[in-house]
Amino acid sequence: MRMRRIRNNPLMRKMVEETSLSPKDFIYPLFLVEGEGIKKEIPSLPGVYHFSLDQLDQEIKEIEDLGISGVILFGIPNHKDAHGSQAYAEDGIIQRGVRKIKSLHPNLLVVTDVCMCEYTDHGHCGILDENGQVLNDTTTKYIAKIALSHAQAGADIVAPSDMMDFRVREIRQLLDMNGYENTPIMAYSAKFASSYYGPFREAAHSAPSFGDRKSYQMDFHNGQEALKEVALDLDEDADFIIIKPALAYLDVVKEVKENFNTILVVYNVSGEYSMLKNAIAQGLVDESIIYETMIAMKRAGAQIIISYHAKEVAKKLKEVQ
Ligand code: PBG
Ligand code: ZN
Repeated sequence: MRMRRIRNNPLMRKMVEETSLSPKDFIYPLFLVEGEGIKKEIPSLPGVYHFSLDQLDQEIKEIEDLGISGVILFGIPNHKDAHGSQAYAEDGIIQRGVRKIKSLHPNLLVVTDVCMCEYTDHGHCGILDENGQVLNDTTTKYIAKIALSHAQAGADIVAPSDMMDFRVREIRQLLDMNGYENTPIMAYSAKFASSYYGPFREAAHSAPSFGDRKSYQMDFHNGQEALKEVALDLDEDADFIIIKPALAYLDVVKEVKENFNTILVVYNVSGEYSMLKNAIAQGLVDESIIYETMIAMKRAGAQIIISYHAKEVAKKLKEVQ
């Protein structure tokens, strides 16, 4: 067998490609801040910006014109407290952001990250007890309340990233009780406690003020445990399953793909993005490494990619067409 027979000509190679990439595969993260006139590059994430709501028009138009399916919103509130009250406030940064984006471009899908760490003064993803432990069953009530407030503002999909047990069930129940039975849940099901989130925590001002997230996010030594997390979230009626981070976890992606019939999403996180951007900027690797990396995620079994690279990849895909 001569394997090279099918590699000799570009059209032949194109014809036998097993994996493809399209702008519609992507969801692009947006960081929203309070105030006016702000479009400020985030130092830890070159090419990604903090936006105040009045500066969004151009950005949203660009994202939609590129054919990207949607955005996932993260909010940086001015006020933080122990209960993260700005996370579910009707006039919170995300709630206003959702309304604004849906009014600008109703067809762009708006996903909201549902968590508390950007909103709590201690930076943990939930409500603490007197010993500083995150209380699971109290937190899920808040998480559901936050998700409902996002749905009420017009979010197309809510995406809980807190990693509390039963939060998908709590959200589903509260949404259904309030007439939002058609709002899908995109669950961060296998979210590992990871150093790859470093640049994000700087961007979202969400680093915990003490301790770490290891009592709720997954231990990266464990792959089989991820299958259990996924099974539980599907049982609680999650519509989409997110694996996060992506690159160092493609074994998990492949295994989830092989074991479950679900819509699989990977989150190509901030540290993964910054590593590539810095290596490209220093001339260590060619920028085509970005496309190669996106293909790797799809080849492993991801159907949707949340990525800070979404815009640049979509631009490149347009050029080659
Ligand atoms: C909030 C949240 C985080 C990310 C998405 N949602 C940070 C964390 O859990 O500390 C990480 C995203 C990224 O690194 O790009 N819980
Ligand atoms: Zn969080």
